[in-house]
Amino acid sequence: MKKKYSSSSKRWLKRNFKDRFVQCARQNNLRSRAWFKLHDIHIKYCLFVRGMNVIDLGSAPGSWSKYAIKILGKCGHVISCDINNMNPIPGVYFFQGNLMQEKIFNQILNHTITKQISLVMSDMSPNITGISSIDIPRSLNLSELAMKIAVATLCKRGTFLVKVFQGLGFGDFLNKLGCFFTTIKICKPNASRNHSREVFILARDFKK
Ligand SMILES: C[S@@+](CC[C@H](N)C(=O)[O-])C[C@H]1O[C@@H](n2cnc3c(N)ncnc32)[C@H](O)[C@@H]1O
Repeated sequence: MKKKYSSSSKRWLKRNFKDRFVQCARQNNLRSRAWFKLHDIHIKYCLFVRGMNVIDLGSAPGSWSKYAIKILGKCGHVISCDINNMNPIPGVYFFQGNLMQEKIFNQILNHTITKQISLVMSDMSPNITGISSIDIPRSLNLSELAMKIAVATLCKRGTFLVKVFQGLGFGDFLNKLGCFFTTIKICKPNASRNHSREVFILARDFKK
């Protein structure tokens, strides 16, 4: 049976087909175009160091986890979580579940309690409706959730990287981060689409 797409899905498919980062990800066997965003941020701000322990929230299909573990090496760890399943990556410990649920949230905390977590990164994104009054608060909810996990798990001087959609509540979120971290930077990697409200906040030097 022929699949029917809504007009917004058709627009998305058309745009994706032409996107140079999508093409490049396919050619290089990367799990998603999100790889380029993390690469860009790492090149500028040097996020990963060999042997580190990292939490990756909203990790599927897994390009960020794969990127991280390659640099961290065998003595580093990546603990990842997503609602969706993710194909296994050697060295990456994956939890499948919704982080909004207390049970999953606690599983992450229990698993990391004995580890020194130096970086928490979140690329979590809600299902985009295209209606900003819906998408922005949903995205902000996920960013706040990621912040709670970062605050509960990071070691002193640790780093938090989080995707946020700019809009109502963005300023308040920045202010909250300012209570926990010494430096805050807003990054818009090249692979982040110009028309998208998405930016990444890089918060460093956790005050614990
Ligand atoms: C843009 S994708 C992440 C791509 C990933 N960084 C990569 O490099 O492959 C956003 C992910 O956030 C996940 N997500 C959204 N809400 C979530 C939640 N409440 N709990 C866990 N994962 C969530 C989605 O399932 C989706 O896989």
